[in-house]
Amino acid sequence: MSNWQKSDWRNKPRVQMPEYTDQGALNAVEAQLSKYPPLVFAGEARKLKDKLGAAARGEAFLLQGGDCAESFSEFSADSIRDTYKVLLQMAIVLTFAAKVPVVKVGRMAGQFAKPRSAPTETVGGVELPSYRGDIINGFDFTPEARIPDPQRMLQAYTQAAASLNLLRAFSKGGFADIHRVHSWTLGFTDRDEAEKYREMASRISDTLDFMKAAGVDGTSSSKLSQVDFFTSHEALLLEYEEALCRIDSTSGLPVAGSGHMIWIGDRTRQPDGAHVEFCKGVLNPIGLKCGPTTTEEDLKVLIEKLNPENECGRLTLIARFGAGKVGDHLPRLIKTVQEMGANVLWTCDAMHGNTIKSTTGYKTRPFENVLREVQEFFAIHRAEGTIPGGVHFEMTGKDVTECTGGVRAVGDEDLSARYHTACDPRLNASQSLELAFLVAEELTSMRDEQKRAVM
Ligand code: PEP
Ligand code: CO
Repeated sequence: MSNWQKSDWRNKPRVQMPEYTDQGALNAVEAQLSKYPPLVFAGEARKLKDKLGAAARGEAFLLQGGDCAESFSEFSADSIRDTYKVLLQMAIVLTFAAKVPVVKVGRMAGQFAKPRSAPTETVGGVELPSYRGDIINGFDFTPEARIPDPQRMLQAYTQAAASLNLLRAFSKGGFADIHRVHSWTLGFTDRDEAEKYREMASRISDTLDFMKAAGVDGTSSSKLSQVDFFTSHEALLLEYEEALCRIDSTSGLPVAGSGHMIWIGDRTRQPDGAHVEFCKGVLNPIGLKCGPTTTEEDLKVLIEKLNPENECGRLTLIARFGAGKVGDHLPRLIKTVQEMGANVLWTCDAMHGNTIKSTTGYKTRPFENVLREVQEFFAIHRAEGTIPGGVHFEMTGKDVTECTGGVRAVGDEDLSARYHTACDPRLNASQSLELAFLVAEELTSMRDEQKRAVM
């Protein structure tokens, strides 16, 4: 790793990246970004790595969630706050069930670049290049908008910096104080889910009051008044990633300054490709999406390349097979990991294998399939004796209608009401909280089983 250079990916085959037409403009943006401060620091990435290591051992649980694609037009303090609130609520529900710390990682402050299944889109007989995320080109269906524009990287950087600034303020400035557990509820959450949450929040408040009355030290400690919140995104646009790569002054190692955790997508995980080449050289925790086409041989090479020291917390394998298919793929990949004696954190992305087209023409995901994939993921880990260490969702704090189902049932005919995503369909606040309660049931029964086993 010592002779790795942040530009080495340029000598490898690349996929899913834009062809910029104006090389001069691209170079100017890269030069400018290289001078900007990094968004995150190596110490924070290392801290996250430690926490993910704990999750890999079953001593913590990872909750990763946020937009499929952040967009320039939907950027506002309110939308960041609302997604953050839902993540806090979900984390509380999961902590209560798992009885271990929940590691909170947003798909936020940098999740701008999208791989696409087709290079072009056709609407009403007109064919244009696909939209690839606001950091690359525009969503509008016009030839001008779809031209990749390097200037967009500067706007993405600015938006990520402002988002992260707000997330840090929420996390450390009192908003996430556990004493405010009641205040994170959003007005439009389903009544039953909100009631269930209120009950849990009241039990937490009562416990805090009791501890305070009993004179237990620490009820005002920073452990209760602050949280650690981390950011993550797919490291797809490598010109941007390279420009924000820095040398950590403590260890002398390269660090991706664009976010705490970066991941490699299911479409860009070629073992000899550009994306793996970049990610292998930075010290951040790395996520690797594993889909139905991930072979055992590829996984072995990828683990060797991405985590040669077999560091705990360095590599998170994000399983995304689709409901009904987890049993076909997860056991064979778990076996590969076990044969290698590799330290990995297994987590479940229950979104990307479950995208379908609704009868009304919208790209959607049925809530019941998302839940079913999580349940299959847990069941297989239980059967294999391995650790289901986290969940990964596309979700928002907004009251959107993008995924069908849930207790406040969204039907195919409702999707058009508030379908706002810039890319894939997200769970709304109500569906996210409902799902957290259902994942919590899985965690509780797993814990009960473990307790029975040691008795
Ligand atoms: C994503 O996480 O938004 C994504 C595109 O996932 P995948 O690479 O697993 O398809
Ligand atoms: Co997505």
